[in-house]
Amino acid sequence: MKTKKQKVEDLVFKTYLEEVMQNKKFLKMNRYIQHGNTSCLLHSIAVAYFSYRVSKMLKLNVHEEELIRGALLHDFYLYDWHAKYKPTRDLGFHGRIHPKIALFNARKNFKINHIEEDIIVKHMFPLTFYPPKYKESVIVSIVDKICSIYETFSKTAYQNILTRVVSTKKERRVIARRINLYN
Ligand SMILES: [Fe+2]
Ligand SMILES: [Fe+2]
Repeated sequence: MKTKKQKVEDLVFKTYLEEVMQNKKFLKMNRYIQHGNTSCLLHSIAVAYFSYRVSKMLKLNVHEEELIRGALLHDFYLYDWHAKYKPTRDLGFHGRIHPKIALFNARKNFKINHIEEDIIVKHMFPLTFYPPKYKESVIVSIVDKICSIYETFSKTAYQNILTRVVSTKKERRVIARRINLYN
């Protein structure tokens, strides 16, 4: 059972999520698998949601909007990283290169600020040379690693995450339709 405070927090999360989900390119992340059976879209929503929840549980005073948006966009690279002939094959190792591609796509499709940029480009630390600069980036980098391990070993990761965030069946149907429309 959610407390009144959790309901308000989930509403805040939903508001930022729905704003980002208006972008068709963002929804295309549903085409690509991140780990196991989990799409990049679901992975990104989960990383954003749990980063936000961790910040609330630990009572960390974070920039909520930046934390959620940066996490939603941290893997916005839009290609199948498992493919042998991926578009970035000449640019280097996916683990190091994809944060830069995600940042490029994020800048192209959204107006993002310095905290969101740092979250995206440093989320693979220590693979990236420079460490995260803000606490929001540190949270996302840690939650991303935990989510990635979970997805690798779970065949049914985050089955209920949209139920948690999006409260009514009608809203879930609208989101599911929008995702299917652009895939
Ligand atoms: Fe990533
Ligand atoms: Fe990720």
